[in-house]
Amino acid sequence: MENTQRFIIFDFIPKKLSKTMKLLEGKTAIITGGSRGIGKGIVETFAQHGANVAFTYSSSSEAAEALAAELSKTGVKAKAYQSDAASFSESEQLAATVLEDFGSIDILVNNAGITKDNLLMRMSEADFDKVIEVNLKSVFNMTKAVQRTMLKQRKGSIINMSSVVGVKGNAGQTNYAASKAGIIGFSKSVALELGSRDIRCNVIAPGFIETEMTGKLDEATVQSWRDAIPLKRGGSPEDIANACVFLASDLSGYVTGQVLNVDGGMLT
Ligand SMILES: NC(=O)c1ccc[n+]([C@@H]2O[C@H](COP(=O)([O-])OP(=O)(O)OC[C@H]3O[C@@H](n4cnc5c(N)ncnc54)[C@H](OP(=O)(O)O)[C@@H]3O)[C@@H](O)[C@H]2O)c1
Repeated sequence: MENTQRFIIFDFIPKKLSKTMKLLEGKTAIITGGSRGIGKGIVETFAQHGANVAFTYSSSSEAAEALAAELSKTGVKAKAYQSDAASFSESEQLAATVLEDFGSIDILVNNAGITKDNLLMRMSEADFDKVIEVNLKSVFNMTKAVQRTMLKQRKGSIINMSSVVGVKGNAGQTNYAASKAGIIGFSKSVALELGSRDIRCNVIAPGFIETEMTGKLDEATVQSWRDAIPLKRGGSPEDIANACVFLASDLSGYVTGQVLNVDGGMLT
């Protein structure tokens, strides 16, 4: 009897807490590449935590508009914007429009990214440049675009999506690895420049996360990746989104300039 009662109490408390602990209540977040995959997971999880979400996409307008409509029913403000992360002028325009639409910009997640894999021997200049522009230049574009607003607010949290590949390298991904390693150096420098104004900048390095990006791989390759991970599974968008909630919220108020590997132990 006593054991049963204990079970009921411990089962009940976490569920109740998870519904009431809204860590991002009233904050406005911009998430780039929020129409699917990891970005979509971040948009949904931020909204569950009470954030108003402005997110971008490149071409998936139907999926993006459907997500915004779904989240708007839950009581937060949610809006999708078509904006090319690689374009400096579109990024500036986006930040100005979001500020007008939402009134503040408290969190920026630079998540949009692409791959164009090939061995160095066969990699074209165009494929190298494209990956650097979409994955790395985009981070400069959006960080610069929100900087003034966050400086005025004297508060902000910027989260940039790198990869374990940016930390370790990967054959066939020289362009991608260079872009993701560049994000780490950029973010540490931003943390040093903006820390005195309480603007924090951190990096997440996801491992093998099962999205459309990794869905291009054949099942045997996917299984071999899963087998090599200490936690014996690929990660989910929610695994990354939960780490983003921590870095976006005041729970990480004394954390800046860091790289958080969310990889099931892959780099251990
Ligand atoms: N999946 C993994 O295992 C993994 C591991 C490490 C790091 N990452 C990083 O995590 C991030 C998200 O990856 P994912 O797996 O979720 O990718 P994904 O499923 O391919 O989704 C990519 C997202 O980025 C958007 N996007 C692409 N190019 C864009 C551009 N030029 N401007 C604006 N948005 C653009 C896409 O919009 P559309 O839908 O309109 O195309 C989509 O919303 C990327 O930075 C990736 O490098 C992923």
